Amino acid sequence: MVHLAAADRVLERDDHGGGLALSAQPVAVQIRDERSGAMIRVKNGSVNEDEDICRPVLRIAGPDDAVALMKLKQRLDEETSFMLLEPNERDTSTQTLARHLEDVSRLENSVVIVAGQHGELAGYVELAGGTFRRNRSTTHVIIGVLAGASGQGLGTSLLEEAKRWATTRGLHRLELTVMAHNHRAIALYERMGFVHEGRRVDCLLIDGRFRDELSMALILPGPLLP
Ligand SMILES: CC(C)(COP(=O)(O)OP(=O)(O)OC[C@H]1O[C@@H](n2cnc3c(N)ncnc32)[C@H](O)[C@@H]1OP(=O)(O)O)[C@@H](O)C(=O)NCCC(=O)NCCS
Repeated sequence: MVHLAAADRVLERDDHGGGLALSAQPVAVQIRDERSGAMIRVKNGSVNEDEDICRPVLRIAGPDDAVALMKLKQRLDEETSFMLLEPNERDTSTQTLARHLEDVSRLENSVVIVAGQHGELAGYVELAGGTFRRNRSTTHVIIGVLAGASGQGLGTSLLEEAKRWATTRGLHRLELTVMAHNHRAIALYERMGFVHEGRRVDCLLIDGRFRDELSMALILPGPLLP
């Protein structure tokens, strides 16, 4: 059985059966294999395994993704100053990252979702959930997409998937910080429903200049409280 998700709809299709139960014509949807957790973008309402149509593949990362994910993070460190770390500031141990991915895979409020293309990763989103009972319904969002893959809807797909994942697990709040001059990311977060909560003035020193950070959050409907 795979899940077919279009916007906020989730429909099901029998792997062995015929057509899809979509009545409207979606622009782009994702299919999910429940066993592997793999998600594939599909256009024009038909499941098509053609590589050109199906890329990029979004899936939940595991320890085996440590090498590729480290490479992606290091490339992001090099090409953008909109994320926290400067080049060569990161702990580059893939064993440590593999352990982290293993730990995350056991948590109900944390996940790393990666977007793969031709054996490499083009982007990722991480939800880092609170570690105590009082903040376990809140999760912090980190997202990065390579410049070469930006502007094609990948950031949107990653965030939509993160939101869907968090919703199905009954999480209540997604939160993040974003540099106040990162207009592309802010526009994306606003479009996804994040609202502005505050401003951390001069909290970052980037290329010799103090910069502000904005706090943004998205409240989800869950969980159902007793
Ligand atoms: C921010 C980021 C995740 C967006 O990913 P993406 O794949 O480019 O996102 P999408 O293509 O889904 O959407 C980008 C949107 O921003 C818009 N946009 C592009 N440049 C913009 C700008 N300078 N100002 C405002 N909006 C802009 C695009 O038009 C698009 O909106 P649309 O779909 O309504 O047309 C990605 O660019 C990135 O990782 N950047 C570097 C690291 C970073 O900034 N991470 C976030 C740190 S908080």
